[in-house]
Amino acid sequence: MLVTLKDILADARDNHYAVGAFNVIENVMLRTVLETAEAKEAPVIVMGLAADLEGAGWTYIAGLAKLAAEYHDIPICLHLDHCYDLDVIAQAVEHGFTGVMYDGSSLPFDENVNMTKAAVDIAHPHGVSVEAELGHVGGSDLAETQHVESVLTEPDEITKFVELTGVDALAVSIGTGHGVYRSEPTLNIERLVELTQATDVPLVMHGGSGTPDDQVRNAVANGITKVNVFTEERIAMFRGLKEAAKIDRIDPLPEDQFGPIRSELSALIGEKIELLSSDGRAALTIADA
Ligand code: 13P
Repeated sequence: MLVTLKDILADARDNHYAVGAFNVIENVMLRTVLETAEAKEAPVIVMGLAADLEGAGWTYIAGLAKLAAEYHDIPICLHLDHCYDLDVIAQAVEHGFTGVMYDGSSLPFDENVNMTKAAVDIAHPHGVSVEAELGHVGGSDLAETQHVESVLTEPDEITKFVELTGVDALAVSIGTGHGVYRSEPTLNIERLVELTQATDVPLVMHGGSGTPDDQVRNAVANGITKVNVFTEERIAMFRGLKEAAKIDRIDPLPEDQFGPIRSELSALIGEKIELLSSDGRAALTIADA
């Protein structure tokens, strides 16, 4: 069943676990994520980036996700990842997304507030939740990530930001980065504790890939309720692709080609769900939604 970002994260915040948020580009990814989450009885967030939704992407990803969500007996949020354009936010709302992220993290505080508030004004009347970003999670590979350097989130800004914008979830910068890490990150858990104390709004970790498991667990224990993973999906699928390429047949069946990709991706999604302790949480979240 399709649920809002706000509903799916409220239960996570109350019960100290996090929901995995996985980018999906087409059917193989979407189906693998949803089937794995259902097998784990876990709530799950599937996300699309504006670049992947352009043109027929809206129909394929949103259309498929909405239909599939009716079939799977777990809470599913269809979420727009990193978006910088209010017209795209409006498009996502129109296509039935249940969560959208407006990313004003590269803007000065006041502009971030104004643009995020404008996104909230578009989304909330339709019952769509909004995630924003305060501070900036840097990174090196995501086309949508415009700045490489990270800026930690300031606890004294968070209350004001939430009050002025009315957001439902907030991405915070505590030491993670998008893409493949050049060296192992050290999360600033002290800062996260301060941020968690400063607001009731569920906090989001971007750059979940490659972040050591013990640090992710610690972050979840201290208030992170949504963990975004994309890079590790691509790495897992590429392992599957290389496995599939070993097949000695000129006309491999589709399953011979996609099977290893699905299986590597599914193993990763299952591991992440367990890491975040969202397995077995599907019923709980439905009851609260
Ligand atoms: P990774 O690059 O660490 O997978 O992060 C993805 C992400 O945060 C998407 O919003």
